Amino acid sequence: MKVLVVGGGGREHAICWKLAQSPKVTELYCAPGNGGIAQVATCVPIKATDVDGMVQWAKENAMDFVMVAPDDPLALGMVDALEAAGIPAFGPRANAAIIEASKAFSKELMKKYHIPTAKYETFTDLDRALAYIREQGAPIVVKADGLALGKGVVVASTVEEAEQAVREMMVDKKFGGSGSTVVIEECMTGPEVTVLAFCDGEHLAPMLSSQDHKRAYDGDQGPNTGGMGAFCPSPKYTPELAERCMKEIFQPTVEALKAEGRPFKGVIYFGLMLTQDGPKVVEYNARFGDPETQPILSMLDTDLMDIFTACVDGTLDQIDIKWKSGAACCLVLASGGYPVEYQSGYPISGLEEAEQLGATVFHAGTKRSDSGEILTAGGRVLGATTAAPSLEEAIAAAYAAIKPISFQDMHFRTDIGKV
Ligand code: AMP
Ligand code: GLY
Repeated sequence: MKVLVVGGGGREHAICWKLAQSPKVTELYCAPGNGGIAQVATCVPIKATDVDGMVQWAKENAMDFVMVAPDDPLALGMVDALEAAGIPAFGPRANAAIIEASKAFSKELMKKYHIPTAKYETFTDLDRALAYIREQGAPIVVKADGLALGKGVVVASTVEEAEQAVREMMVDKKFGGSGSTVVIEECMTGPEVTVLAFCDGEHLAPMLSSQDHKRAYDGDQGPNTGGMGAFCPSPKYTPELAERCMKEIFQPTVEALKAEGRPFKGVIYFGLMLTQDGPKVVEYNARFGDPETQPILSMLDTDLMDIFTACVDGTLDQIDIKWKSGAACCLVLASGGYPVEYQSGYPISGLEEAEQLGATVFHAGTKRSDSGEILTAGGRVLGATTAAPSLEEAIAAAYAAIKPISFQDMHFRTDIGKV
């Protein structure tokens, strides 16, 4: 099969790395890809959000299958457009990707179908939003309705902080149109666990549970990022909890979307909080998480192409997905200053040595210079990933393996998997 993966980050590198192991995949392309993806796939210089350009290229080059990984092309209807052109595509259509693209939509869906989540109200009017915050008091959570690169959420510990967040979203348009509607919700407490699940519109197959670390600095300090590291499985996610989540959250979500005429095919990302009242949904994403995908796919023993095909064909119930035992850990090596301001274009050294020490180093933001040198080209630069018989060993192996890697102003957290 000729397969195209859309995207160009660490998640897409992990997806390409796994697909390249499938005997079914004879030619692998990635658009736009990056310096590391180029080692396993042919990179095509088309922006992930260029729906028309992508469909045209896929048609002209006779792709048999397209996998759309990032949130924005999914929300823009890339899968719909590929299907209309007769090309099988993995990922939700726009009408199902909305579970991530609109928090107002997903909160309403959960309310209607009694799926446990934080209490909330939705606002388009600034004064009403401010009045609600004063009435509810702090701590309280303010969320921009639309996509905001995972940064449109403020967990406010004071009323003033919440008011400021609402003003930044609604008046200053910090997240553009994404913030003209805001969701204000109850602040939940408890450990967080993420469960990604393959989905074929009707059936659902959860992957190993995982946990990412969103804050930039050690001890969960500093600004929110796309994710500074992740591991799987989460020791907090017991078999009893898995059963309860399946019954109270996962299955009802898939059924709700089907009942609404928005069958979901692709990967649903369940961001969960384990509260005293049981597991509740913090957020849905309509795609693989980044960096959760890097450790999770490192543990997958089944052919990923077979799973993708089953999701598109509606036959996910007929395949038995196998996982390695043990655990995996991914450490993100970021540019100094990320997620605020950072420089790019620095040479990276020590990649081969890290691989020799047992890590798979997925590239998130890199490019290859004309002379073949790997340079930094983004906020999150690399995701060094290791698998081992236990979580402690996977974490230790990952920290040992990154020792030889260096680039100017490299920054990483030293407590991934420990908090
Ligand atoms: P989200 O982008 O919705 O995942 O939010 C980012 C992070 O904000 C989550 O991973 C949580 O740590 C936190 N968060 C979001 N919603 C809530 C909530 N209702 N209560 C407490 N923390 C929350
Ligand atoms: N790691 C969080 C996300 O992919 O949304």
